[in-house]
Order: sequence, then C-alpha cells, then structure tokens
Amino acid sequence: MMMDLVIQDKTHDESRQGEALILEPANGKNSGRKLYIESYGCAMNFSDSEIVASILSDQGFETTADYNMADVIFINTCSIRENAEQRVRNRLREFTIAKVRKPDLIVGVLGCMAERLKSKFLEEEKLVDVVVGPDAYRDLPSLIGRVDDGQKAVNVLLSREETYADISPVRLNSNGINAFVSIMRGCDNMCSFCVVPFTRGRERSREPLSIIKECTDLFNRGYREVTLLGQNVDSYKWNPEIEGQESEVGKVNFANLLEMVAAIHPDLRVRFSTSHPKDITDEVLYMIAKHENICNYIHLPVQSGNSRVLEMMNRTYDREWYINRIDAIRRIIPGCAISTDIITGFCSETDEEHQDTLSMMDYVQYDFAYMFMYSERPGTLAAKRYADDISDAVKSSRLKEVVAKQQQHSYIRLQAQLGKVQKVLIEGF
Ligand code: 5AD
Ligand code: SF4
Repeated sequence: MMMDLVIQDKTHDESRQGEALILEPANGKNSGRKLYIESYGCAMNFSDSEIVASILSDQGFETTADYNMADVIFINTCSIRENAEQRVRNRLREFTIAKVRKPDLIVGVLGCMAERLKSKFLEEEKLVDVVVGPDAYRDLPSLIGRVDDGQKAVNVLLSREETYADISPVRLNSNGINAFVSIMRGCDNMCSFCVVPFTRGRERSREPLSIIKECTDLFNRGYREVTLLGQNVDSYKWNPEIEGQESEVGKVNFANLLEMVAAIHPDLRVRFSTSHPKDITDEVLYMIAKHENICNYIHLPVQSGNSRVLEMMNRTYDREWYINRIDAIRRIIPGCAISTDIITGFCSETDEEHQDTLSMMDYVQYDFAYMFMYSERPGTLAAKRYADDISDAVKSSRLKEVVAKQQQHSYIRLQAQLGKVQKVLIEGF
C-alpha cells in the first residue's frame, strides 16, 4: 500500500507565498514585453497564475523574475484572512514605487482581493491600472490594451461557466514531478466565516475529458503526481443532461473522476484537495482503497469540534457527523493520513466549546493541521450576523493550545511509521 512518510498539505504552501513565476514566450510571438506575476493564497490561485501566464504568453509576453525589469506587474491576491490582504497591500506599495520611476509600467491586481474590492482598488491604490477577478482572465489582453490607451481597466464579472477547461496551463517553477490540476471552480457552501463564495462565485465543474487529457499530457512529460484541486472536490459533478455541460462522456461524479485519473497509469500518483465533511462519500473512500496509486491522504477541515459553533459557521454537519466520517475513513482506508483546518475564537465560542475542538483533535489524531485565529471578513454571513466578540488574546491563547496539541499528534503519527517500509516518490534532490 502506498503511504506518505511526511504528510504535508501542499495546497496552501507557506513557503510559496509571493513566489514569482517564469516561463518561455510562445514560439515566434515575442512582443518584447515582460510580465512579472507573483501569487498569494491557495494552490488554486497559483494554478490560476499559470493560466494567466499561458494567456499572456500567447500574446507574446515573456516573464521575468525581477519586477524591476517588467513592463507589466501582476499580483494574484488572496482575501481569506485580514493578514493575507495586508501582505498584498505592503507588496503593492513596493510596486507602485517602481511605477513612479517608470510611468508606463502597468500594475494589476488579480484574484480574490480584486474581486472583493473591485473598482475600490483604483480609488484606494491610485497607482493600480488593472483590476481583474478570477473568472475574467481571458479578457486580460484587451484590458492591457485599454491601459495602453491611457485608461484604467476593471473586469470583475463572475461566471457560471468559466473553468478555463481548454487552456493548457504552462507549468511554472515546476520540479517536473508534481502538478496541480484544477477540476472545479467556485464554492456554493456559504460557510459563514468565508469570503470565497463572494470572490470565486458559484460552483462549477470542469469537463472530465479535458482533465484526463491534461493529466495524461503531464504523465507523458514525466510528471508522476497530480493533485486535483477544487474548493470542494466531493461535489464535483459532470452531467451532460444539464444545459451547457456538453461532453462525450456521461455523468461523472468525483469517485468516477478519481478512477479515470488513476487509470491513466499505475505510476501516476493521484491526490486531491479539499474535501468537505458533509459531502465525502463512502464511494470516494472505497475508490481510494481500491487504487494503489490514489494516495491515502485526506484533508478534511473540521473548523470546530463543537456542534453549536459548527451550526453558526453554517458547516451543515455536527460533531457526530464528522466523527462518523472519520470512523468511515479509518474503517475503509486503514492507516489513511488525515489533515484538517481549525479556526479558534469564532464568534461567541466559549471555553467549553473550545475544549470540544481539542477533544476532537484527540479523537482523530491528525497528521497535520492548518490552524488559524478567526478573522472577520467584510460581507460574509458571520460579519453580518454575529459580533466578533472573542478578544485577540483569547483567540491567540486558544490557538496556542491547538498548535501544541497538533505538534504532539504529528509526532505520534510519525513515530507510528518507524520500522515500516514505504514506496517513496522522490521529488527533488
Ligand atoms: N478566519 C480564519 N480562518 C479562515 N478560514 C477561512 N476563512 C477564515 C476566516 N475568516 C480558514 C478555514 C479554511 C481555510 C482555507 O482557511 O479554516 O478551511
Ligand atoms: Fe484561495 Fe480563498 Fe485565498 Fe481566494 S481567498 S486565494 S480562494 S484561499
């Protein structure tokens, strides 16, 4: 059975925040203009930057890793927590200084913050020229043209259909082994703390054969691991009976899609992220158990271990339901690695309710966790309905307890691997 020794979730990789992307221009089309693009946030955002780079490379753009050399600077932004936005604003200040030196430099804001703040960006950050939301990247060449004509350009329209299915993303700063493949966009869940439904719009699934083609191409080029990406992969759904979903295949759910990708080649490892506790089915678990090349690892964000808090978060499951899903994973995929996301100090969370989160951690013994203090996001249901009434001091002391517990559990889980023999994918030197 294939398992991992170090279980690291790669979908929100701290070491990659702010990374710049580099690629070669499309053959024979070099316009002489240079693009610098820097990304923040989740793997979905990094994957989008590859789509943006691909669209602009078709226009003859070259990329550069030095923004001082660039004619166009794009920053692909994240809104998930206040500090993610603060980081971007600080960076933007550095770019706008470059613009004072070089007035025809174009500075653009892409991604979730662009979508959230829309044209407010142009009022607040006067030196920004372009604001483009996550569903409008096909419009970039014409938006850049508009800026060349001396105007400011904004496109933050969200779409019900856009999946960029036909755009083959260029792989940037890649090790040639692991790649992210976007299988769906948007989110319909409306967790009360979360800004994503507002920044990334309605949920839509990408046509399955375009996913298989992309993964097969990757495998043929030497890649040995793909991570299928979506805000909620378990609700992946392709149904040609629905208008607009035309395809040569019939209905495909997430379990079917996993099987199709796993069938590309036994040497291709398959991962996916993120699963939602309300949607992860036994069918998916059996599929993971059935195929040796689907990695035994599930990222299953719990957020809180207390049912009242979960209800306020609008997670649509309670503590018992989550435990039931964990039991199913343990039963169907023995030894499966499990990681999670936890928020401390959500609106009105009491100390006992916080203890429920700690006891949930004890129950599951997660291999890995992303842990956050609650950060109120403007426009979300929680911001409208509930007071952000837990002090930073309490949020932070609860977070410390959660982090300390997780460290113990990660250690225990690693210890459990001692003396075992595993099949390992070597990703680099
Ligand atoms: N405050 C703190 N953490 C948040 N997350 C999402 N929104 C917020 C917020 N407003 C966390 C959740 C989610 C992860 C991607 O980020 O745990 O699963
Ligand atoms: Fe990704 Fe969410 Fe940040 Fe948008 S707000 S970049 S979807 S983590």
